Amino acid sequence: MLKKSKSGETMVATALRLDPDVIARTAPIYERVKGVIPAIEWPVFASDIDAILRLKKERNAIILAHNYQTPEIFHTVADIVGDSLLLAREAATAEADVIVLAGVHFMAETAKLLNPGRTVLIPDAEAGCSLADSITAADIRLLRERYPGVPVVTYVNTSAEVKAESDICCTSGNAKKVVESLGVDRVIMLPDEYLAQNIAAQTKVKIITWKGHCEVHERFTVADIEGFRKNNPGVVVLAHPECPPAVIAASDFAGSTAAMQGYVADRRPARVVMITECSMSDNLAALYPDVDFVRPCNLCPHMKRITLPNIRRALETLTTEIVIPDEVASRARLAVERMIAIG
Ligand code: 13P
Ligand code: SF4
Repeated sequence: MLKKSKSGETMVATALRLDPDVIARTAPIYERVKGVIPAIEWPVFASDIDAILRLKKERNAIILAHNYQTPEIFHTVADIVGDSLLLAREAATAEADVIVLAGVHFMAETAKLLNPGRTVLIPDAEAGCSLADSITAADIRLLRERYPGVPVVTYVNTSAEVKAESDICCTSGNAKKVVESLGVDRVIMLPDEYLAQNIAAQTKVKIITWKGHCEVHERFTVADIEGFRKNNPGVVVLAHPECPPAVIAASDFAGSTAAMQGYVADRRPARVVMITECSMSDNLAALYPDVDFVRPCNLCPHMKRITLPNIRRALETLTTEIVIPDEVASRARLAVERMIAIG
């Protein structure tokens, strides 16, 4: 359809000197994103998408993409999409030779820990996370001295070195279950202070927190939510548990990115606002055109480092490969595997 058109998108394709065969091959893929990517922009993405699909076959590679990846990644080249927990589980059982993690560095490290025999690539090694940057392995050793015998539950949004000092990992999708699985009355949960406080509100287990924050979610306020409700009567407010507790209290539902998607998929609210990263709503809008997404926008600069051109380069050059020293990996793996075993 795009190939035959004499309209703007064909002119853009010509200006970009795109092979008409590429435009024809990618036309069916465009159908998946036509609700969120204007046709005039498609030629900008088409040649990278075409090349990535070819390279995946040549390299026997798969792409795991987090829910915060942009629609042109999430809906076109990704083999598996989801929240941190699902990506970790899928990485553990992946049989491809190469796993490209379209997400941030800690997600790629988690994939490598769970499936050390595969080549795990991150398209931009600088794709970090403010939570992962908020704590070091030495900080955990000090906490253990201060609270002897209290188990350490570590959010997956941390480095492998930090995981190696931990008893067990958790994600926003299983944090309560992990905390309660330990059968103790007190845990240290780090580094996300707000996630820890939000879990503490749901359990009898006493939680010692750390002062790390997600730079995307800490910026949302109760006033933002009041504004969304006032300007969009009847809107359903869904929030990620990395938001401050007052924001969670002002919302209708809180859950991991997968849980938020589940809410939309099951209940089909007429109008919804997702108090989380920008791409989440864009990706769901393509899947649920019957739902009206109000789109406040807080971008994660780390997630946005991943692009189609650097995914293509990762597959062409097999870089940047995740390498974790054995001594760190063996201890960090235990903490992640204990989490996976909880189910
Ligand atoms: P999820 O595990 O809910 O996908 O969250 C990951 C993340 O980085 C949220 O900011
Ligand atoms: Fe880290 Fe927040 Fe970005 Fe998630 S959204 S990767 S927690 S900075």
